[in-house]
Amino acid sequence: MPAYTGGLNEMCFKDRTVIITGGAQGIGASYARSFAAQGARLLIADLSQDAGERLAAELSDSFACEVRFVRVDVSEEAETAAMAAAAADLGHGAIDVLVNNAALYGQLQGKKPFEDITREEWDRVMAVNVRGVWNCVKSVVPYMKKRAYGKIVNIASVVFCTGAQGFAHYVASKAAVVGLTRALARELGPFGVTVNAVSPGLVTNQSTLILNTQDYVGRMAGTRALNREMAPDDLQGAVLFLASERSNFITGQNVIVDGGAVFV
Ligand SMILES: NC(=O)c1ccc[n+]([C@@H]2O[C@H](COP(=O)([O-])OP(=O)(O)OC[C@H]3O[C@@H](n4cnc5c(N)ncnc54)[C@H](O)[C@@H]3O)[C@@H](O)[C@H]2O)c1
Repeated sequence: MPAYTGGLNEMCFKDRTVIITGGAQGIGASYARSFAAQGARLLIADLSQDAGERLAAELSDSFACEVRFVRVDVSEEAETAAMAAAAADLGHGAIDVLVNNAALYGQLQGKKPFEDITREEWDRVMAVNVRGVWNCVKSVVPYMKKRAYGKIVNIASVVFCTGAQGFAHYVASKAAVVGLTRALARELGPFGVTVNAVSPGLVTNQSTLILNTQDYVGRMAGTRALNREMAPDDLQGAVLFLASERSNFITGQNVIVDGGAVFV
């Protein structure tokens, strides 16, 4: 992949085809908005059909770009293969960017000691948060290899460093996403595909407030060098950068976006 020599003030996704899994709502919807604002052809892939269709219609109306929704369970390879085919259809054969954002997070509904997590809960978290990433990459990479170009951004979490209490399966799944990112970067680099991770800190959104009290969220904000709560939009810069040509010589990395709470 050549060095990017474009201007400094543009980060344009015009004519780029972008898939965002879990993009119907929550932080994924914030990524969807930012890619749409940059003119991307966007495929929002999510289990949540009503929210996804609503957002696709809203973004198509608001921005000069094509946005579609596809219902997919990322834990099922047949469904991620159909998702990739839908993206290639949208992109006239090309898929440029995959953002692996779908995960079981807010849907976990609560925290519990590791001994109380059931085998079914453990397996489901791994199936969505880890196998889901593997499935999506497997489905999309053949299209990227054909053009020797692709940008994959996996959403992990800073909990892989800090080890959040009461969330053992989720923490383990996000550590696996960081490991998988590194393994995939090695395998896909020769084909012109970069694979990086973004690890958000605790974002103040609906899902976070299902799992944590506002008091806890406020205390976490106090541990940051940049002393405030984190919004979904705080993640846009890192994700867009790693999805853009600006980052063509960066792969296998994990960018922590948490306002400076954890330094590694
Ligand atoms: N919110 C935070 O504080 C925080 C912090 C660190 C990392 N993250 C990560 O950021 C991402 C987004 O977080 P969020 O707060 O918006 O989460 P969320 O729970 O609000 O949204 C997750 C999205 O994924 C979708 N999804 C769930 N299972 C799916 C499946 N099997 N197939 C397809 N789609 C599925 C849901 O429908 C939803 O749209 C997740 O990967 C999460 O782990 C979040």
